Amino acid sequence: MKITKEITIHTRNVSELSKTERLGCDAAVDACNKAYAPYSGFSVGAALLLSDGDVIQGNNQENAAYPSGLCAERVALFHVKAIKPESTITDAFIVTHSNSEAKQDFAPPCGACLQVFWDIQERQSEPIRVHVRGQRDNEIIFTADSIEQLLPFGFRL
Ligand code: THU
Repeated sequence: MKITKEITIHTRNVSELSKTERLGCDAAVDACNKAYAPYSGFSVGAALLLSDGDVIQGNNQENAAYPSGLCAERVALFHVKAIKPESTITDAFIVTHSNSEAKQDFAPPCGACLQVFWDIQERQSEPIRVHVRGQRDNEIIFTADSIEQLLPFGFRL
């Protein structure tokens, strides 16, 4: 037996974003600027758009005891679930800024964050779109229309 899944990531110029998307992107830039990342020199900002119009930000929070820190995406995701457990997340915007040269075109959420996205998407009726701003060219936005495009097989209990 063989299971094959095709994934699609589409790209746009920042100028092609809708007004709401632009708002989300700006909120992610703002969050990225406030990240606490003195150890890695890699700042990440996330902004989650909710179906009720709310925008929730998160950024990476590092710690002198390294594993005690947390990624931007999970800071934002857990905050949404803490304050509005019944809300629906429609879009996630992610912006990164590194002290060193970019090693890839865009930095998708890490595997641990994708699993949290996947679990939360399972609990709502709508897919979560993920938009990541380019690292090499920050005028490009890379979009996945659902978490499955980034994590084809999530874990469930
Ligand atoms: N980081 C995120 O905030 N999101 C990810 O999805 C991957 C990595 C953070 C964690 C750490 O503070 C820094 O980026 C370098 O790994």
